[in-house]
Amino acid sequence: MLKLLRSLDNAILNLNDFESLARRHLPKAIFGYVQGGADDGTTIQHNLRALDRLRMVPRVLRDVSACSQQVTLFGQSFASPFMIAPMGASAIVGHDADNAMARAARSARIPYILSANAITPIEEIGRAYPGCWFAGYQKPDESNIERMVARVSDAGFSAYFLTADVAVGSNRENNRRNGYTMPFRPTARLALDMVRHPSWLYRTGWRTFRQRGLPRISNIDPVARPSIFSREINAVTGYPHFSWKHAEMIRRRWKGAFIIKGILSPEDARLAREMGADGIVASNHGGRQLDCAVSPVETLSRIREVCGDMTLLVDSGFRRGTDVIKGLAMGADSVLIGRPFLYAAALGGEQALKHAITLLQREIHTDMCLMGVEDCQALREQTVFFE
Ligand SMILES: Cc1cc2nc3c(=O)[nH]c(=O)nc-3n(C[C@H](O)[C@H](O)[C@H](O)COP(=O)(O)O)c2cc1C
Repeated sequence: MLKLLRSLDNAILNLNDFESLARRHLPKAIFGYVQGGADDGTTIQHNLRALDRLRMVPRVLRDVSACSQQVTLFGQSFASPFMIAPMGASAIVGHDADNAMARAARSARIPYILSANAITPIEEIGRAYPGCWFAGYQKPDESNIERMVARVSDAGFSAYFLTADVAVGSNRENNRRNGYTMPFRPTARLALDMVRHPSWLYRTGWRTFRQRGLPRISNIDPVARPSIFSREINAVTGYPHFSWKHAEMIRRRWKGAFIIKGILSPEDARLAREMGADGIVASNHGGRQLDCAVSPVETLSRIREVCGDMTLLVDSGFRRGTDVIKGLAMGADSVLIGRPFLYAAALGGEQALKHAITLLQREIHTDMCLMGVEDCQALREQTVFFE
């Protein structure tokens, strides 16, 4: 691992490179939790194929010497058109991963979204990255909504993402096959898996335990922080009777930017706009919820049409600078990226995350110049089509 950190520049040339190293470093159960999807993982593959099928038409002989990838989202200026997606239980994958992601994002001037399912409390991340963003799995209960919104606001967060594509937990067979369960169930098989990965066991497992004791899911409730072994966390995904009515309750109480994450239908985008959301994330949760769902890039331009001036973000399978550019050209204002950043955090914490961010920034810069555009807005005028 030390060798890897010393030679990040040579070992890891793009975001995809983190995955194969993480596969070796992480216990099989934990790697599977990050990499896996619902049912047969059809949507994970489909997300990559959909992006791959998009072709771009570059323009030439345009002065691109002042090319800038800066974007403005919810009135805030950011250095690049991508951000770190919310990911639950990250601090089990990499030591102090939520803090590492928040610090790396802050210093690179890109957004970081903390998950409700994180081990690290909202208040701690609010200090690491003031004005940072939060993604809630909210209980459909008015008093809980009120207290949760107050907690997120008091911690200094500026945007609330409601994760909407989790009416129930999905079918993750890969987790069952690998012995990963939530709540965590210690078994001989899991123990052996961990012992076979001593670098993870010491650098993450042991150090996390020493730092925090039993890891706790810290942000699903205004007060309760159930341990990862507790039965209470059976319901850490969504709640089946959560509906637009509850989303409106959050909207009314939350004074900052309010974004609904997990939209694929233009009709839902219209409903989000009508209920006063400031933005949406077109997403299939990285293939982790409904298997065989469309890829967001397949509905993005139709969603853009109904969005008006509402901010449109997108995720699921974006890895390359060209992927980000395709998303922007089809109407998105910025892109969320999940798994590669979590692998980076697991392999080398903040340093590896900074490396990952720099790699993607370089690719975006090169690709924007080759497309003949000087800013992200101009990408909207470029032609992108499905082959
Ligand atoms: C390990 C893991 C945990 C996740 N946990 C959450 C979560 O707590 N809340 C949420 O809204 N999305 C969650 N997601 C989905 C991501 O926010 C994002 O939509 C998805 O990872 C994007 O796809 P990508 O990983 O292919 O970039 C999680 C994804 C992963 C990989």
